[in-house]
Amino acid sequence: MQSVFSHLFLLAASVTPALAFCGAHTHLDRRVEGEGVTISSFGYTGTNGPLLWTQLNTTENELCSTGTNQSPINMVEGQFQLISASDVELAIPDVPEGAPFENLGTNVEVVMKDVGGQFVLEGKNYTLEQFHFHHPSEHIDNNVSLPMEMHMVFSTEAKEIAVIGVYVDLVDTTSILELHILPRATPSTLLETIFSSVGEIATPGTSTTTKPLVMSELVDLLKAGSFQRYTGSLTTPPCSESVEWSVATEKLLLSKATYQAARDVIGFNARYPQGNLGEQNLLSMAITAAQAETPVEVPAETPAEAPANATAATAVRRRQRLQKKRGTSLE
Ligand SMILES: *[C@@H]1O[C@H](CO)[C@@H](O)[C@H](O)[C@H]1NC(C)=O
Ligand SMILES: *[C@@H]1O[C@H](CO)[C@@H](O)[C@H](O)[C@H]1NC(C)=O
Ligand SMILES: *[C@@H]1O[C@H](CO)[C@@H](O)[C@H](O)[C@H]1NC(C)=O
Ligand SMILES: *[C@@H]1O[C@H](CO)[C@@H](O)[C@H](O)[C@H]1NC(C)=O
Ligand SMILES: [Zn+2]
Repeated sequence: MQSVFSHLFLLAASVTPALAFCGAHTHLDRRVEGEGVTISSFGYTGTNGPLLWTQLNTTENELCSTGTNQSPINMVEGQFQLISASDVELAIPDVPEGAPFENLGTNVEVVMKDVGGQFVLEGKNYTLEQFHFHHPSEHIDNNVSLPMEMHMVFSTEAKEIAVIGVYVDLVDTTSILELHILPRATPSTLLETIFSSVGEIATPGTSTTTKPLVMSELVDLLKAGSFQRYTGSLTTPPCSESVEWSVATEKLLLSKATYQAARDVIGFNARYPQGNLGEQNLLSMAITAAQAETPVEVPAETPAEAPANATAATAVRRRQRLQKKRGTSLE
């Protein structure tokens, strides 16, 4: 127990105001040229994972456990407004010289703040700051999780944030015949190009430069579809709200081999799906439920702990039955 607390204390102490988050580099983290990449102090598993993000800095990260418009969410009917791509303006220049590509520890990120990408949404002019990748997807596509999700983070001069989310699915490139029949089901050249350099930033805190990036492929794809609009939050500490989300209906495709290379560097970096918009934060709800006096009924098939008053013999028989059923040891 003591070690858990001291670990938490160390984590809390190491959090700085210039937290790397979903909008890193947007405004809080203007890095001096030549300085190293700052590794994020939050994480995705255990005691620095999303259940305890608020504890990393109770002032700064309070919304992670109390906010009622938190992201990501399950994108089901009623949670978003569908808008046509013709209702927005999106222009991102190509990057022939390549862009900085960084491993923040929690994410791999392509820095685009000098490129001048523009997104005009509901009359507001946002500039592209960076894009990064989550594995698996953070938003749930009508009850289905996708292999990855790309987040393109834009901001206004007044530091308002808009994010375009694009799901990434896999495509099997082994069959030339299939490619012939389905010419559109080919991997995204942009993603294949970016991730061809992912091995160069396998270590957190390192950075490289991508090969030339042709952004028009992505822009054309997004413009061919629609956007699922809602107002949510950053999906990383400090979980700030009023983030304008546009989750694209069009998906990017990635080859299996490239996906595996990216996955092995990114690891696991998806926040769990949050509650419905406007409803009580799931963590606040969970705290109330955990403190409730009424015991929660455990379904019969759940391999629950033996009841406190069961005899030792019953507990052993129960464990043996479970081991047999699962074919594995419970120890
Ligand atoms: C929490 O965040 C605030 C605001 O950024 C900062 O002033 C404070 O030092 C942080 N506390 C810890 C323990 O890091
Ligand atoms: C958005 O900003 C760009 C570049 O500063 C400018 O050319 C464009 O006219 C602006 N659009 C709107 C709708 O303000
Ligand atoms: C998604 O899940 C919800 C809740 O379980 C269910 O009501 C809904 O019918 C599901 N939608 C689809 C398309 O499967
Ligand atoms: C276990 O405790 C419950 C509630 O106290 C009681 O109803 C039940 O009979 C007990 N079972 C055994 C095996 O002692
Ligand atoms: Zn993100």
